[in-house]
Amino acid sequence: MIGRTRWHFAAVDSTQRVAFRLADMGAAHGTVVRADFQSAGRGRQGRSWESPAGSALMFSVILRPIVPMHQLGTLSILIAGALADVFSDLVNGPVHIKWPNDVLIGGRKVSGILLQTRGPVAVAGIGINIDSPAESLPLTATRLSRHATERVSPDQLLEMILPRLNTMWSEWKTDLSTRQIERLEHRLWQIGEDVSLLDADREIRGRILGLDPSGGLRLGGPGGERVIMAGEIVRGPRPIPGS
Ligand code: BTN
Repeated sequence: MIGRTRWHFAAVDSTQRVAFRLADMGAAHGTVVRADFQSAGRGRQGRSWESPAGSALMFSVILRPIVPMHQLGTLSILIAGALADVFSDLVNGPVHIKWPNDVLIGGRKVSGILLQTRGPVAVAGIGINIDSPAESLPLTATRLSRHATERVSPDQLLEMILPRLNTMWSEWKTDLSTRQIERLEHRLWQIGEDVSLLDADREIRGRILGLDPSGGLRLGGPGGERVIMAGEIVRGPRPIPGS
């Protein structure tokens, strides 16, 4: 069960690194490694993830999938979906998922997910800005406290998230979650809009049509529809003004 075993540190370099270390030592599936501060937090695409101490919920989950690692394609977007469902209960207004795995409120990023694999182990790292000072956030980011109808602490938020992650995981194990993916599509940011995607040095342009059951992004263009499995949306509409 996700969250049955939990480690909580005041400070580490990265909960991802600590989680892999614990996994190497035999830590069970579902072990949660949380920290109030990370000195070398990791983001996607080799970026860093920085948050002032205590202002974010940052944790990693050790996953021991029973399917081959190449079938993990849907997992990070489903984690984003589980987080979006939790945030929706807390804020006024829509919560979106920006493919492949960011969660946005008011068009700005509130949470990011980093899924890394090593051998038979996957570690899902989740960072959520709860109360990060505005000056510590890039313009494209926001914090949950700005949108939430009630104050929520990192402890409370984790308690809300873990049951959703457990539900997601059970459903994912049975069908790799084709149905869950369909349920997520209404949250997809920029659906129907023309965007540019960057995959390594390659720029791909097209219109976002939806999500593929594999977890990929369905992109339409002059050559027809194709499914993109990796990349980052780099251009497109800006955050919603005033949000
Ligand atoms: C991204 O948006 O680029 C992903 C950010 C993931 C950040 C989290 S914070 C907890 C875990 N430990 C890390 O070093 N990174 C992830």
